[in-house]
Amino acid sequence: MNDNTEILDSQLLSFLPVRDEYADILVQSMRYSFQAGGKRIRPRLVLEFCRLCSGNTENAMPFAAAIEMIHTYSLIHDDLPCMDNDDLRRGKPTNHKVYGEANALLAGDALLTLAFETVLSEKAVSLNGCEKCVKAAAVLARLSGYSGMIGGQVIDLQNENKKAGIETLKIMDEKKTGALIKAACLMGCIAAGADDKKLGFAESYAENIGLAFQITDDILDMTSDTKTLGKTVGSDVENNKSTYVSLLGIDECKRLCRELTENAVKALSGFDGDTGYLTELAYYLRDRSF
Ligand code: IPE
Ligand code: IPE
Ligand code: MG
Ligand code: MG
Ligand code: MG
Repeated sequence: MNDNTEILDSQLLSFLPVRDEYADILVQSMRYSFQAGGKRIRPRLVLEFCRLCSGNTENAMPFAAAIEMIHTYSLIHDDLPCMDNDDLRRGKPTNHKVYGEANALLAGDALLTLAFETVLSEKAVSLNGCEKCVKAAAVLARLSGYSGMIGGQVIDLQNENKKAGIETLKIMDEKKTGALIKAACLMGCIAAGADDKKLGFAESYAENIGLAFQITDDILDMTSDTKTLGKTVGSDVENNKSTYVSLLGIDECKRLCRELTENAVKALSGFDGDTGYLTELAYYLRDRSF
């Protein structure tokens, strides 16, 4: 997606601290990973669902920044030697390669906490009111934590050197990747004050693109090259990970992704507004090469 990436990047970055008198290395390492690039899919989902539900996208910007902070922290920790032990991320050396493991761990922690500081900040409350901010923070907490992204990461690690069944893989992917994608879609709807019916349609779209997103990530880990992907290919084989691709093979995974993408697009028919962007995004994510 090449739409206004530069503007979006600078808007998101404005929510990060610039320097710190006593712990500047922390601020530098947070900014290093946050601004290293990345497709910014989750903030785009926040803003687009807000727009689709007739909200003001400027009000949703703190929520968009917060989800990207959580996502970036999840990547910094995911790359650590104790997890996937990867050296390249977003086309640059991973955070721990540059700042050391302890600083990488702490940069992740700081991005995680800054996300909640941002959603509950005076600025976010003045734009959205208390109720929406609390609702968004609750959704973000639930989907990032033990029953969401972190829970999924644990299932991922538990199934290294094993052949996990399809049910386990589905739950793992829904949690480790689908949960943050769902949080993004829901937070956009919340910023716009959407009703439960709309939240339900957003959830269905998110669940389908979320699973397709991780399956595609697993396919690319096998089929892409390091330069295009900006991260080391073959990491899953190297770590003996259980993935949809290792269980079902690439062709069946591609078929599944097509099916999930169609389901996602169908869920958009629950909205009255222009769903063109989200339809295109679903297809872009299915056909992406990085
Ligand atoms: C990578 O996410 C990690 C997964 C959840 C599969 P992205 O592919 O969205 O990473 P960036 O943000 O573009 O770097
Ligand atoms: C990671 O899945 C999901 C996260 C919560 C970060 P992967 O381990 O497959 O992500 P990549 O391939 O390193 O980006
Ligand atoms: Mg991983
Ligand atoms: Mg990884
Ligand atoms: Mg991967």
